[in-house]
Amino acid sequence: METLHVTADADALSSRAAQLISIGRVGAARPLLAAARALAPPSAEFTLICARLALASGACEEALEELDHGIETAPSHAGLRKCRADVRQRAGDLDGAARDAAEAVVLDPADPEAKAILGAVMLDLGYAADAAACLADALAAAPSNLDYRQAFARALEKAGDVDAALSALTDGIAQSPASVTMRNAAILLCIRRRDFNRAVRLGEEARSLGIADACTFGMQGHALSSLGQHDQAGIAYQDALKLGPDDTYVRHLVMSSGLMSDSQRAPESYVRTVFDGYADRFEVHLIQLGYRIPSAIRTVLETHPKIVTGVPIGPVLDLGCGTGLVALAIGDLPLGPFTGIDLSPRMLAHARAKQLYGTLREGDIISDLASHEQRWPLIIAADVLCYFGAIEELLGLVHQRLEPNGWFVFTVEEIQPDHDGVVPGNGNWALQRQGRYVHAEHYIYEAVCNAGFRILRMDRPVIRQEAGADVPGFLLVIERVRHDG
Ligand SMILES: C[S@@+](CC[C@H](N)C(=O)[O-])C[C@H]1O[C@@H](n2cnc3c(N)ncnc32)[C@H](O)[C@@H]1O
Repeated sequence: METLHVTADADALSSRAAQLISIGRVGAARPLLAAARALAPPSAEFTLICARLALASGACEEALEELDHGIETAPSHAGLRKCRADVRQRAGDLDGAARDAAEAVVLDPADPEAKAILGAVMLDLGYAADAAACLADALAAAPSNLDYRQAFARALEKAGDVDAALSALTDGIAQSPASVTMRNAAILLCIRRRDFNRAVRLGEEARSLGIADACTFGMQGHALSSLGQHDQAGIAYQDALKLGPDDTYVRHLVMSSGLMSDSQRAPESYVRTVFDGYADRFEVHLIQLGYRIPSAIRTVLETHPKIVTGVPIGPVLDLGCGTGLVALAIGDLPLGPFTGIDLSPRMLAHARAKQLYGTLREGDIISDLASHEQRWPLIIAADVLCYFGAIEELLGLVHQRLEPNGWFVFTVEEIQPDHDGVVPGNGNWALQRQGRYVHAEHYIYEAVCNAGFRILRMDRPVIRQEAGADVPGFLLVIERVRHDG
């Protein structure tokens, strides 16, 4: 129980509460603020502390209420505007956030924080060049602020000036050589622009200076692996695992490197991190890689007996819907409405923008199939089973959720022997260095038949290109024929 050794003074109570909130002791701060509220009418500063308390307790709505009241009473308080801009941004009200942040800039033009908030909101709104301009101003006023610098680099990258983004980060490293986050941001940017040599050099420098964490080593491993230097990548991954043994992202990278091979599926946090980071570039990148699966799915669906006779198939469940390319490819056929499930909120945001899905749910496809009773005439999983090694559980759940004679249409990548003719993995599936699983034809065949399906088609399309080579795979159309589930 917090004991305050001062007489009841509203300012003392609120400033002690603010200290407690800053160290995470939200429960102890609450009664102090209640007592302060009883002693004096709330000032703008007091409102800010109450809003921070609400935010620290995860109560976004309550924080907004406090701030709305505060701004009504003190409309030209820049601090309240900045705070509400931040809360509105978190709540997804980007236009409201932009209005508050712009107002805060007008109220206090010399305040770099207001410009930085405005820049962050502009970036979320997709105005990358304006965001970069705001953040450049913020950084000019506070050159040592690492958060502003990283946000500035992100805005430059989004605006297409990747060289300038990288030089903003390298300037930041020169200025604050002990900042591991600045170093990691620079390495990640190099990986994203596929400059793996530079990523490795930056990682080496961080390692030699002792300024590296699990993430640095994980990215170092990724860059080395992309350069084909698998032994060195293995060492980097082992270092990553030592520093972050419980980090699922690192663990999955390490497993992909072949050092550990017992993972049955990609961890949810790994998938979410990868695809959230990839979402904005996903479609352009896949087009460059010649991704053909959505149109191949269209071709097989055109042979569905109902489609052939012009009868609507009914609702479609799109597992791992990503940005919605499948609905885009088949949305004009007589089927739907579409429900999409995906782990990545940023991929889902792109799918939502297409307005082709009646329902979009964020979550793991296994948990979603297990927890929703609805049955479907058609379930699709395009380029998603490559995040699963063993597929029996998924097939069992899909079987339960399909209507009798319903179709499951999905793709897998095919396992390839290495240059010595050795088939990697356990003979059924293998986890590759890129973090995706590949499957053997006999395994897919057996797993599908054992789960109560009949194979209607097993095509062999090229899934996409990788490093200039075709990635071979299977496109299966299977029908639920055993109806015991
Ligand atoms: C390569 S993308 C394919 C997206 C889409 N199906 C397409 O063809 O464009 C894989 C998608 O599956 C999602 N995903 C992977 N594993 C998942 C899981 N266990 N649960 C839900 N979504 C998953 C990823 O977030 C990503 O959006």
